[in-house]
Amino acid sequence: MVIEKSTPLKGVVRISGAKNSALPILVASLLADGETVIEEVPILKDVSVICELIRHLGAEVILDGEREKAIIRTDGIKVFETPHHLVKQMRASILSMGVLLARCGKVRISMPGGCAIGIRPIDLHLKGFQKLGAEINLGCGFVEASCRKLRGNNIYLDFPSVGATENIMMAAVLADGETVIENAAEEPEIVDLANFLNEMGAKISGAGTKIIKIEGVKNLNPCNHIIIPDRIEAGTYMVASAITGGDVIIENVIPCHLRPITAKLLEAGMMVEEYENSIRVQGKKPINPVDIKTMPYPGFPTDMQPQMMSMLCIASGTSIVTETVFENRFMHVGELKRMGARIKIEGRSAVIDGIESLSGAPVKATDLRAGAALVLAGLIADGYTEVYDVHHIDRGYVKMVEKLKNLGAKIWREEA
Ligand code: EPZ
Repeated sequence: MVIEKSTPLKGVVRISGAKNSALPILVASLLADGETVIEEVPILKDVSVICELIRHLGAEVILDGEREKAIIRTDGIKVFETPHHLVKQMRASILSMGVLLARCGKVRISMPGGCAIGIRPIDLHLKGFQKLGAEINLGCGFVEASCRKLRGNNIYLDFPSVGATENIMMAAVLADGETVIENAAEEPEIVDLANFLNEMGAKISGAGTKIIKIEGVKNLNPCNHIIIPDRIEAGTYMVASAITGGDVIIENVIPCHLRPITAKLLEAGMMVEEYENSIRVQGKKPINPVDIKTMPYPGFPTDMQPQMMSMLCIASGTSIVTETVFENRFMHVGELKRMGARIKIEGRSAVIDGIESLSGAPVKATDLRAGAALVLAGLIADGYTEVYDVHHIDRGYVKMVEKLKNLGAKIWREEA
């Protein structure tokens, strides 16, 4: 993607369905036989991979790009093995473990490797399955879990892991008895998944709080569901307006999901107006420096840390950004420094000395949010910025070039 220094963004942008909701919900549809219809499905690379996975497991999947709709038809799961090439492409494939354990009593999956932002182990997922009665065997490069019938239990998560909370919830819905997950993740995507499972006939209470209770049921039925809007995509466009001094209305959002981002933008001196399902952000100069510490929801989201850092590069002072969720989520710092940013990493914190302006340069996306951050930096950098490896961006952002162009950005794609 090539980005030329742009004038302040202006106009309206509509947010797509949440990637991190769609992925677990598409897998969870395998818990029931029959036809499930899911709407507001974001048409992304990661969604195509998860559809390939659920086809591999025996379901028929129709992904209608035009209407952003997925139709899944299942009559039993034929395969309990998740192939390596799918896990390698996308670690969220591990979200199939809970479903396969619940439906087949067995799962074999290749161990997900690390990625650019951290080693990302799955120990909390496996500990949860063990507490539900599963036997875990680790082989070279794969993990096997088996259990004739899962039994509810109390599970305490050492860390409020989003994926572990989702995987355990999906395993527990068909277990015998009650499961209580303590120190559960509270993200909106967990609530969306719990709502979907309850629409299928599950009995889940407490989603969105630290304690989730799941009363096992005999079986589940297919249902229709609409995915919640993507709060990280929305936050990315909020920062795009702020960084360019623009005036943008972001439609199809749930304002309370954006509260941590709104709070920080207000602190930075921006103007933010919340409406029922849209939010307006006007960028103001100077941008005040702010300190950010990423935390599990409802704290400031780690998935918005790189994008905020791009804005703080041109703030009128020094900001400190502390990343507490992932151990290596500062890969974008080196790239921003190539654009002239003045950033020093000290342990889990980055100290950003705001400067007048950045300079366009060829830079590399290392993960989807770092890629988005570099695009935002390109909007305000003098000259041209070329962002390479933008396949990372395509994993999590629907039509980013078109959406930004419609707001007046000078951005286009070129074959590298
Ligand atoms: C989900 O990843 C999201 N992905 C991530 O979004 C997001 O950054 C992350 O939650 C945190 O909010 C999806 O939902 C598909 P975690 P997940 O388990 O579930 C450690 C994006 O940009 N941990 O909450 O993998 C882990 O190493 C992506 O859309 C363990 O130690 O996140 C990490 O440091 C990037 N053991 C921390 O917890 C485990 O068993 C948070 O991980 C599991 C996790």
